[in-house]
Amino acid sequence: MEPTDLGLTTAPLIAPHGDLRPAHAWQHLHRVASARYRRCGPFSWHFARGKLKRDPVFRALLAGAAIAPGSRLLDIGCGQALLASLVSACEALAAANRWPSPWGAPPSGVRYTGIEVMPTDVARAERALADLPSRPRLICGDMRHTAFEPCDVVVVLDVLHYVSATAQDDVLARIRKALQPGGRLLLRVGDPAQSARFWISRWVDHAVTLARGHREPPTAWRSLADWQSALQRLGFAVRTMPMSQGTPFANVLLVCDLERGP
Ligand SMILES: C[S@@+](CC[C@H](N)C(=O)[O-])C[C@H]1O[C@@H](n2cnc3c(N)ncnc32)[C@H](O)[C@@H]1O
Repeated sequence: MEPTDLGLTTAPLIAPHGDLRPAHAWQHLHRVASARYRRCGPFSWHFARGKLKRDPVFRALLAGAAIAPGSRLLDIGCGQALLASLVSACEALAAANRWPSPWGAPPSGVRYTGIEVMPTDVARAERALADLPSRPRLICGDMRHTAFEPCDVVVVLDVLHYVSATAQDDVLARIRKALQPGGRLLLRVGDPAQSARFWISRWVDHAVTLARGHREPPTAWRSLADWQSALQRLGFAVRTMPMSQGTPFANVLLVCDLERGP
């Protein structure tokens, strides 16, 4: 079943005869989005293929119309910017009138900015995305000290636990300031209440981050209730969605919406 309740709309936009079936559309998007990373070497390509295939969040964002057309999208801790590649593949599918109508509005005309602290990831992203007409912007910097431009959607997937609780609150407050009325934050965090799965997440995170050259592994975990109240204090309406189907992890996506204003 598709997780459509993220949606801004679930209304069909494209004539049914042009639609691809969701499974076929996803196969196509997965292939196109990961193929860009071939030019960065086998590690980068296989990582892109594996991550887009096994991590349910990418398909859920598309199938749930979570990123509105024309959005200014800020992806914090973007890694090698897989989301930029995926969104660009969506653009082509929608332009060819093949977007699956059950998915609602495609993320067309999205202006993407990614922030990532690891220079190797940024270099891979720059190489993979160099010839995209949408010209995604990539910033190599620490989210704690990098300015957030005004935006409509912010995506933060598995990143905030790399910094202290105080720094997390500061980043969230700056995201809140950067988001325009009606804006949306899509924040994925680990859920300590799912004890066994949570410990697997922590262990894998620890090993992977040390292997990737981070000086310190992530440590600052909070309960789901704690995240929710911090976000509500900032004025977000918060919904939670389990987001680790098919993996051994304990991830939850917090869909945080701001009011549209008067
Ligand atoms: C688990 S990875 C997730 C990558 C990406 N969001 C995804 O879902 O594919 C966490 C990413 O956050 C980055 N990161 C960690 N601390 C950061 C910081 N202070 N500023 C910016 N990026 C950071 C890491 O280098 C890593 O690429």
